[in-house]
Amino acid sequence: MAETNELHAEQVAFWNGPGAERWVANQTRMDATLAEVLQAAVAHAAPHEGESVLDIGCGCGATTLALAAKVGPSGRAIGLDVSAPMLEVARRRSTGTANVAWIRADAATHAFDPASVDLLFSRFGVMFFGDPAAAFANLRRALRPNGRIMFACWRPFPENPWMRVPLHAAYAHVPPLPKLGPEDPGPFSFADPERVTRILTQAGFAEPRFTKRDFAMDLANGEGLDAAVRQATGFGPASRAMEDQPEAARDAAIDAIRTALAPYAKSNGQVALPAAIWLVDSAPA
Ligand SMILES: C[S@@+](CC[C@H](N)C(=O)[O-])C[C@H]1O[C@@H](n2cnc3c(N)ncnc32)[C@H](O)[C@@H]1O
Repeated sequence: MAETNELHAEQVAFWNGPGAERWVANQTRMDATLAEVLQAAVAHAAPHEGESVLDIGCGCGATTLALAAKVGPSGRAIGLDVSAPMLEVARRRSTGTANVAWIRADAATHAFDPASVDLLFSRFGVMFFGDPAAAFANLRRALRPNGRIMFACWRPFPENPWMRVPLHAAYAHVPPLPKLGPEDPGPFSFADPERVTRILTQAGFAEPRFTKRDFAMDLANGEGLDAAVRQATGFGPASRAMEDQPEAARDAAIDAIRTALAPYAKSNGQVALPAAIWLVDSAPA
């Protein structure tokens, strides 16, 4: 197994390299695809007027901007991310929004102002720490004693056909991605409530509450099967599995993905597959 700082360095490189490239190129599409998750997560976290909110792994900023709107001019939303290219997009989008700030830093080690934040929030930005218990302990120090944490993370891979269906179709033609260990960072690393509970309680949080939310994830954003195939092959694990493969294998994988997604295509242009997340909330112990 790789050392935690090695895992961590890999993540920082990924989110400043190929990961960022894909999110930046697909930002508008991703915001649309994940809009329902954003709504559910913000409603669950319930930011109030005047609160100070830290958005962990804010990416291209959609979530931070939504939080800023909720806390209003007397509050503030801080988007923090390790990815320079993604923050660049976020900064551009927030021009003229006074109650937003952006920090390029590692959430695991950044020296936050102690007890300065009412709400730690994240949509899919907390599953990539090399040493998650240490990272959450660092984040807890930023939280006021009566503050709270709320984040969205994926439930297990088999419960997420939006990712499983295209990936398994591609695997008929390209080699599988390296298997991640149970403690390795990655999109599904927070799928197991026992593991998340262990991490959060070690970091000084109370036993968390897990709320299930299920969505129909429209990979096409209403633009039909071709758009869904573009999204599934340009982004996410299927695109990673196809990377650097011979053209013939890639073409065959794309055809297989199209065939696998076709049954989900509806006459209104949507290609919607089930997606399953946890909304996890807790507070300092
Ligand atoms: C799956 S993306 C989610 C982006 C955004 N929250 C959204 O929902 O659109 C994960 C984000 O976490 C960020 N990230 C990963 N490790 C991080 C760390 N140690 N500190 C801060 N951000 C990190 C990545 O750069 C990336 O922007």
